[in-house]
Amino acid sequence: MHVIGGSASTDLAERISRELGNAPFGVPFLKRFPDGELYLRVGGNFQNEDVVIVQSTRTDEDLLELLLLQDAVREGGARRSFVVVPYFGYARQDRRFFPGEPISSRALARHVELDADMVVTVDLHSPLTLGHFRKPSFEASAIPAFARQLRQRPVDVLVSPDKGGADRVRRLAEILGRPWFALEKKRIDSEHVELRLPDALGVSFTGKHVTIFDDVISTGGTIVEAARLLRQNGAAAITTACTHGLFLRDAFERIKAVADDIYATDTLHNGAQKVSVAPDIARLLEKEGAAR
Ligand code: R5P
Repeated sequence: MHVIGGSASTDLAERISRELGNAPFGVPFLKRFPDGELYLRVGGNFQNEDVVIVQSTRTDEDLLELLLLQDAVREGGARRSFVVVPYFGYARQDRRFFPGEPISSRALARHVELDADMVVTVDLHSPLTLGHFRKPSFEASAIPAFARQLRQRPVDVLVSPDKGGADRVRRLAEILGRPWFALEKKRIDSEHVELRLPDALGVSFTGKHVTIFDDVISTGGTIVEAARLLRQNGAAAITTACTHGLFLRDAFERIKAVADDIYATDTLHNGAQKVSVAPDIARLLEKEGAAR
């Protein structure tokens, strides 16, 4: 098995190759033509080999690089290609909210799966996106990776900033054997939210170490409001954690102003990728890839 890391996921791809018993690892040569079009070339002989391509699609450029990589690997004679998209861009538009909108995650799923024998991603915003694939597709979870990390830290209570993330936080809390609860969230616009404690809280967090866990930190609006609310209500220390850290604009600084620590996984390159999902992706590839 070979592993190719696209430019958005080089570090994670290399870790996955190590987890797969030091599978041969490479990165593509990339350049731009004068008109801005992307050129890439992958080295290595893939004849009758399985190839794992790892590339998050945070930007439209990342997506295009992924599509070209898939074609290059197929041209190189790969027997099967397993496409790992650790951060699957556009996954939050997984349904039509208003007439005239696309189901963006479905549009992307259909293009990515065209040249893939299997697609693997990590912690999707909702299960709807997996349902948009027609080829075998799997979702690795960052929860075991966070459990490994947070076991070594003081964590008294876990909090989901909204009901949508409650199941994720419940599963992490159960592994760690800690209480948890979800805040009530009302989104005002793409950067602002209103949060409040649930009516029947049933969990005390006064004077305690609280970890807020979300799937995505984008502008930081949600996690900053959550940290403020919990601090105002007596939390002694706040750790913020997310699977996918986009950290747009000054999100880092705003979070640092209200939280003691920031944890993200290596699905995206950012300054906080302290938690690796490589072992979880590698085990899933071994299990599902070998089964096909
Ligand atoms: C939304 O439901 C997601 O789970 C995240 O809470 C959201 O994407 C975070 O975005 P932001 O950091 O911009 O508040």
